[in-house]
Formats: sequence, C-alpha cells, structure tokens
Amino acid sequence: MNPIQIGLLGVGTVGGGTYTVLKRNREEIARRAGREIVIKMIADTNLERARSLADSGVIVTGDGHEVTKNPDIDIVVELIGGQTIAKELILEAIANGKHVVTANKALLANHGTEIFAAARAKGVIVAFEAAVAGGIPIIKALREGLTANRITWIAGIINGTSNFILSEMRDKGLPFDQVLAQAQKLGYAEADPTYDIEGIDAAHKITLMSAIAFGIPVQFSKVYVEGITKLTGEDIRYAEELGYRIKLLGITKRVEKGIELRVHPTLIPMKRLIANVEGVMNAIVVKGDAVGATLYYGAGAGSEPTASSVIADLVDITRLHTADPKHRVPPLSFQPDLLSDTPVIPMDEVETSYYLRIQVVDKPGVMAEITRIVAEQNISISALLQKEASDESDQVSVIMLTHLTVEKNINAAIARIEALPVVTGKVFRLRIEELNN
Ligand code: HSE
Repeated sequence: MNPIQIGLLGVGTVGGGTYTVLKRNREEIARRAGREIVIKMIADTNLERARSLADSGVIVTGDGHEVTKNPDIDIVVELIGGQTIAKELILEAIANGKHVVTANKALLANHGTEIFAAARAKGVIVAFEAAVAGGIPIIKALREGLTANRITWIAGIINGTSNFILSEMRDKGLPFDQVLAQAQKLGYAEADPTYDIEGIDAAHKITLMSAIAFGIPVQFSKVYVEGITKLTGEDIRYAEELGYRIKLLGITKRVEKGIELRVHPTLIPMKRLIANVEGVMNAIVVKGDAVGATLYYGAGAGSEPTASSVIADLVDITRLHTADPKHRVPPLSFQPDLLSDTPVIPMDEVETSYYLRIQVVDKPGVMAEITRIVAEQNISISALLQKEASDESDQVSVIMLTHLTVEKNINAAIARIEALPVVTGKVFRLRIEELNN
C-alpha cells in the first residue's frame, strides 16, 4: 500500500519531536499502522529551522496554505497553536478533505463544535490526543477504554508548570514568585506564564475531557477558573498539618443538577496517589461506575512525550482512513447527534468542602462569633486550628475546614465573617476534594 502522506504545520518543540520519533521508529510504526507514514511537507515561518530538520525529498515551505491545498497530503498535523491562523488552516485542510491531528487545546475548547461539525460534514477525522496531558493517552482511554462506563467524575493535575511550582513551594519553602522565575529559567513556564498559572491551560483540557466523558458540547466559556497565584507557603503548610496537599486540579463531575466544570487549587488527602504527583508530571483520575477509579500518570508536556500522542493519532487515522466514516470513533466519543444538553451548573450551586484562613485579633469571643456565623449559614465545621501569634503581633490565623456545603453558603459566610471588626483583611478560601467516591 502507498505510504500515508503527512503535512506538518509548525516544527517547534512538538513538531520537531514528531519528526524525530516518526523517523526513528518508522519501521515499527509502519508494522503497527499497516502502511508507512511519511512526512511529505513541513511548513514553518522559521524556514531555517524547518530546513535543518527536513531530510531530502521533504518539501519545506513558509506558507501553511501550500500544505492544506496539496492534493498529495492525507493528514495535516497542526502544531502551530493559537486560534487564528491555526483555525484557518485546520478548516481549510478539512474543506480539502484532509484528516487533521492537532495538539491545540485552546482552539478545540473554544471552537471545537464548529471544527468537529466541519469534519463530520466532510467525512474526515479530527484527532487531538496530544491536546490533553501531553503523552498520557487519556483521550483514547476516555473515548474507548472506558466506553462501557457511566463516568461520574474526573480530577486531574493537567498543567505541569503549576504542579512544578506547587511542588517546589512545598518542598523548598520558597515563595510563588521565586519558583515561577525558576520555572521560566528551566523552560517549563512560558515567558508569559498566564495560561499556566491562572488555570486557563488546565481549563482548556478539562473542557475537552468533560465533553468526552459526559457527551456534552465543548463549552470553555462555562468553566470556573482560578489559578495558583494567590497561594502562600503558609496555606501549603497548614494544609499539610491537616493531612492535605494542595494541587491545581481540573475537575468535572456529573451531579443531580448537571455537570460541574472547574479548575482551582484544591486540598486533596495526602494519602491519595494523585496527591503525590510532583514536579511537571501530570495525572488524571477517572471514576467510572463499572471500573471504579482509574489513574493515568505521565509526562504532560515535552517534545517526544507529546509527539508520542501525535503519532498515536496518525496511526489511528492510517488504520481508519479507508473505513466508512460512520464506523469511526466519534471525536467526543458519543455520536454527534446524540450529544446531551445537560447544563454546566454555576459555581454558586457547586457543593464541596472548604478550607478557610481567617486573620483575627486574638481576644475572647472571636472564635464564638465566627462559628456562630458558620452555623447560621448551615455549614458544619470538620476541623479548626488556631495558629499561635508571633510575639510582636496581636493577630492570629484561624484555619477552618468545613464539611460539604454549597458554594453560595460559604460565600455568604465569608462576607459576614469579613464584616466582623475582629477580622482583619480578606478570608482566604480554598476548596477540598476527598476524591473517594
Ligand atoms: N504548558 C503546559 C503545562 C503544557 O505546563 O503543562 C502544554 O499544555
């Protein structure tokens, strides 16, 4: 059989890795795919970089449109990123009847519905294993391996940069800014680290997983997103004292009222395996009704780990290239005309447990006032800790853990606590997930 011909858009970290791994494992991959997979064209605005990678016979261009229009190309691999030119080229490739592989989580989380519909109309595949958790085959697991299950929840450490920062803050007792600078120096965080540290990158990924798990459209605009920039070493230490570790989690859950979809720093019991995922590594727990909890761990970024996912998609498409489109795995696992309109519930209605750090003046009756408010809001306390004041200060931190309550109740309690004259400053709030049912 003729080789399947690939056009690569972008040869940065992941594109370069894809080229290298495809070349290195060419024979093994062909034995799996049933045909050779060859890179026929490379497009990159950095022509020098593209030329230095390309072997003879590979066409190099600075114009991605030349790839999407080339009738010899079977699959276009988009590794440019962003939501402008990448979107244009993907839609153009689809319109020209080409399958697409992309690692572009931001694009799919925002425009997935349009892109999947265009692909469906043309009978081509859009594959995106590399868009979520780098080298971990979580899309394949959710879409195929767990297909028997009614999935109840997913919780994942899906941003390596922020996990590295939290690990270093805890291990070395360093402040956020210092660890961020170190992450940038090591090349983990981008020069503009906003997407990583503000939870946006994780939100893109949990949006995609939520759609696949629950058969709902991709809806990035509905995710509640909170990053790690306000976390202090103090909170990390207090959480540890109470048996918890703080991780930036992407969480999606099926509950009675709809679907929860959120990203925020979260206290999780130290004894859970996922609590011990350190540094830039990623891990995702998926709970299915039949299988129970399953855990997926590995490199969430990097050249060859992410290339591993890109190439897995290339092999999948090569195997399915000649199959009737109706017999292929749908991009979101559920048949496109059977997606449900189950609502994503507003954050106010989410039920979880909370960690509150309250700065108070150390005098009689303060704790009684705070606990009265909490009781009046129908919130039950599960742990209470008062930290000793330093010699020079008359103020202390009160740490409170609550049982399950609805977010709007805790917000009301926080507003009332902040209004107390004995409370100084804002109440710092984090959410807790036990991840046990
Ligand atoms: N910047 C991401 C991370 C990897 O730090 O995990 C790409 O999504």
